[in-house]
Amino acid sequence: MNAYVGTPTSRVDGRAKVTGAAKYAGEFAADHLLHGFVVAATIPRGRIARLDTSEALKVKGVVDVLTHAHRPPLADKDDAWKDEVAPEKGSPFRPLYDDRIKFNGQPIALVVAEDWETAKFAATLVRVEYEQEAFATDLESERGKAAKVDQPHKPRGDAPAALTRAAVRLEADYVIPSEHHNPMELYATTAVWDGNGGITVYDKTQGVQNVQKFLCSVFGKKPDDIRVLSPYVGGAFGSGLRPQHQVVLATLGALALKRSVRVVLTRQQMYSLGYRPMTIEHVALGAKPDGTLDAVSHEAIAVTSRFEDFSRNDTGWAEQLYKSPNSRLSHKLVHLDVATPCDMRAPGAASGVCALECAMDELAVALKLDPIELRLKCYSDRDQSEDLPYTSKRLRECYARGAEAFGWGRRNPAPRSMRDGKELVGWGMATGVWEALQMPVAARIVLTANGHAEVSCAASDIGTGTYTIVAQVAADALGLPIDNISVRLADSTLPQAPVEGGSWMAASSAHAVLGAAEDIRQELARLAKAMPGSPLADPVNVTLVDGMIASNGAAVSIADVMRHSKVERIEKQKLNQFVEDKSYARNTHSAVFAEVKVDEELGVIRVTRVVSAVAAGRILNTKTGRSQIMGGVVWGIGMALHEETVMDHRFGRIMNANIAEYHIPVNADVHDIDVIFVDEPDERINRLGVKGLGEIGIVGVPAAIANAVYHATGKRIRRFPITLDKLI
Ligand code: MOS
Repeated sequence: MNAYVGTPTSRVDGRAKVTGAAKYAGEFAADHLLHGFVVAATIPRGRIARLDTSEALKVKGVVDVLTHAHRPPLADKDDAWKDEVAPEKGSPFRPLYDDRIKFNGQPIALVVAEDWETAKFAATLVRVEYEQEAFATDLESERGKAAKVDQPHKPRGDAPAALTRAAVRLEADYVIPSEHHNPMELYATTAVWDGNGGITVYDKTQGVQNVQKFLCSVFGKKPDDIRVLSPYVGGAFGSGLRPQHQVVLATLGALALKRSVRVVLTRQQMYSLGYRPMTIEHVALGAKPDGTLDAVSHEAIAVTSRFEDFSRNDTGWAEQLYKSPNSRLSHKLVHLDVATPCDMRAPGAASGVCALECAMDELAVALKLDPIELRLKCYSDRDQSEDLPYTSKRLRECYARGAEAFGWGRRNPAPRSMRDGKELVGWGMATGVWEALQMPVAARIVLTANGHAEVSCAASDIGTGTYTIVAQVAADALGLPIDNISVRLADSTLPQAPVEGGSWMAASSAHAVLGAAEDIRQELARLAKAMPGSPLADPVNVTLVDGMIASNGAAVSIADVMRHSKVERIEKQKLNQFVEDKSYARNTHSAVFAEVKVDEELGVIRVTRVVSAVAAGRILNTKTGRSQIMGGVVWGIGMALHEETVMDHRFGRIMNANIAEYHIPVNADVHDIDVIFVDEPDERINRLGVKGLGEIGIVGVPAAIANAVYHATGKRIRRFPITLDKLI
């Protein structure tokens, strides 16, 4: 059964990706294709007083300039603009809807021309006059206006009183800046007009059915009018969860002009879209002298837009992870004149756990305890917030395996005690945690008499390896070589799937495929039984292996069964719903160890080694899984040392909206990364014991690096990213 599952299988789409055969949203061709270029607002709040497109329209090659005053109809009700992952509270942004300006960089016109250069040039000729209004974009100066998010968390015990009497108390603000998505692939849509009113939309998205429903709702179209595809995605990790405004603009253009329209945002324009919200994470820990916790308090204050309440679970991890009789959590939002934040790899956890794990390190220093020892003293085999056991939790093993691989035992605990020539050496560690989520997904398998199977599902592969694990699970379940499996994904007409996010797609898609394969097996068993003189006249415990259908030592080839039965193809589709036992908590965990070397004179920080030991149930593919974790670690290096969206609050405008000035780790910043998958059998979570990977790769990494910087230098930097100016 396990020829492929659990092995380091290479990507089945790898060749297409490296040869350029894989096409991305902005690469699809169409006859008479037009190109749209976005004109963006240059004020953060107010209204458009005058919008003059006459000069732009005079440019040869310009076909039209769409604006709020000149466009096809758009839905008016908020509900029509809510996609499957929109914040519950608020009114989603609608491009070119009216004259209101809600954030700097907001699209206010789309210049459509025969070629991209013409559209881009003509966009500079659109004249705009604004009536600007008072605005605010600075979270720290507006901190006092923070308002509690709905559903306040029930406190446990009396954390304030416990903090007051604690023998050792640690209380600090950790500041995580806003960070913008910078995937390789730009936000892009090609909307292909089919001549009969139908539109095929190639979009950079993590959820084709989400975008399809959204577009139908926004444009008042029937389901058959719009088909959305996203066969390959050049990185997304949250940026493509909600339908982004380029997909609305390209579709609007196609409807207005009855021609195919492509809209690709520039790197700079991508900064008008999703980002990890800036948060001030206030953590207070109270401990007994022996290192057991008596109180945990975590309050997050996060930025959101004026028009939508975006919030994620920043604070719940503190309460869940460590034993403490008293705890108090709160999450507050500050509404500012900015775009709505969005999910970004491990939303909530990446920021909240960063603060928590830095605070735990500070507490370990105050208690004169080894950081791992402190975490083991507070270790809990139960989810503390729900008081539930876990389906599995091998975090203890993560600490042990990670520490051993890293050489943690050789650490001198004193700050500034380790050196390598001119450089100070620091070793730090942190815990990572994420949820093991699973969602309803359907898959269809068509098995043909030549022993080939096609598996299809609307799920996306955002680079995470979905094509490959779907092929692996199908090959094993059908007993076929993986080369006999072809996989179709990310087409809204295929069987149902939610957006790919939250690390839920591996477990979810795998079980859908497994279910469909089992129906195929049953059908084959039925056909085999009916064959005259069948060796499988009374099939029990039927398995499919090596192209054969086998039972009780007897076997016939699948091809023979289908030929004899005169069946050319067997098609089965299955929707898998997980039945979750509510009496268990489901999480993945990790222990992250980091080594930094700091140039004492220049303050330059290098992350020379990272070891990440991960417990995430069964790993379907140890090769793509390792890549997931490595990617998360690299992103964690960025969060610790590089990434920061800088706003000029006088103008409410982002100052570093480009990857020259918005820093992300490059090859020279990334050194040794060691990924360890801790064996974590889990018979409760689902049949395959799969928890999912991805988000867990980043969680804990920024804190491990910050803690290593403290160990190297003796300086505790609580404002991220840790740049050299903060060290010298
Ligand atoms: Mo998930 S936030 O789409 O990596």
